[in-house]
Amino acid sequence: MVKKIGILTGGGDAPGLNAVIRAVTKTCCSEYGMTVMGIENGFGGLIQNRIRELTAADVTGILPRGGTILGTTNRDNPFHYPVVKGDKKVFADVSDRVFENMSIHDMEALVVIGGDGSLAIARQLHDLGLKVVGVPKTIDNDLSATDQTFGFDTALATATEAIDKLHTTAESHHRVMVLEVMGRYAGWIALASGLAGGADVILIPEIPYQLEKVIDKINKRSQQHKKFSIVVVAEGAKPEDGEMVVQKTVEDSFDPVRLGGIGNVIAQQVEKHTGKESRVTVLGHLQRGGSPTAFDRILATRYGTEAANLLAREKFGAMVCLQGNTISSVSLAEATGELNQVKPDNDMIKSARKLGICMGD
Ligand code: F6P
Repeated sequence: MVKKIGILTGGGDAPGLNAVIRAVTKTCCSEYGMTVMGIENGFGGLIQNRIRELTAADVTGILPRGGTILGTTNRDNPFHYPVVKGDKKVFADVSDRVFENMSIHDMEALVVIGGDGSLAIARQLHDLGLKVVGVPKTIDNDLSATDQTFGFDTALATATEAIDKLHTTAESHHRVMVLEVMGRYAGWIALASGLAGGADVILIPEIPYQLEKVIDKINKRSQQHKKFSIVVVAEGAKPEDGEMVVQKTVEDSFDPVRLGGIGNVIAQQVEKHTGKESRVTVLGHLQRGGSPTAFDRILATRYGTEAANLLAREKFGAMVCLQGNTISSVSLAEATGELNQVKPDNDMIKSARKLGICMGD
């Protein structure tokens, strides 16, 4: 059995990261007698040798805490790492440093807690011979090999609470309130929170919208003497004849473009075409912060203990996953194959349509 392992968190933070770190560390130390090394700031720490021991005492009390005690980044890809050559910044493959630092600390295997970007790197490292176990994290819930990623449930609860609160002003001032939520290629947060919060319009990346349909829905509500409307839009939503709204490009990030601004675009157009005062709220990183829900704490804990079991059984190149209500595992190849996007025949979409919610098409 492996005796010493490393653990890192990569990509954007998500509620439940600390719960996974705690579960992996406690199970590895107490159940399997392993030593656990915590790697700081994702793959960056593995490249730059920022590594320290994590004992069971170090993870006491972190279960309800948001964020990650190890730090994280959505930069520092070892296969595309910025280095200075002469007076120029270039990108190079520095994956040999990962293997060097694993060996300096006698770490025989690595737990990577991350989303599609981090798990794709984990898969590449595994292909080069590193013993890796993955844990699926992302508030976007866009990994296809698991029924749910941890972090999503908490983000959903935050977005739903925001819609509930926006109803107050919408009703009192007879306004259209637009809520922009995260979800770059997958609209799970928008769809589920829109349904849970009773939105009138839900716009997701998977269903390019027609502005006329949105306007039509809001006008119809006015005719029915419903004086306000709630629109929930995913940051990656786009019109049928247009593109996503990009704030800036980020060359060395796992996410090559920073999205944001579609809520504003929708609010301006709605106000122009309906004459109704329209306001926008961008929920942003509030969705990633705070204490995980009970569901996310339990899911993260189950994922963490199963990741430790996989290490003990020497089942590498795998990612823990949820299938139905059972914790299982899939290969990293399967885990990173395709994104989990909302399918047009998804049950929540069918329900939304039956309730008369406009999906933009
Ligand atoms: O992947 C999760 C996510 O929350 C996306 O929905 C969003 O586009 C991205 O992270 C934002 O990342 P950052 O905090 O780096 O801007």
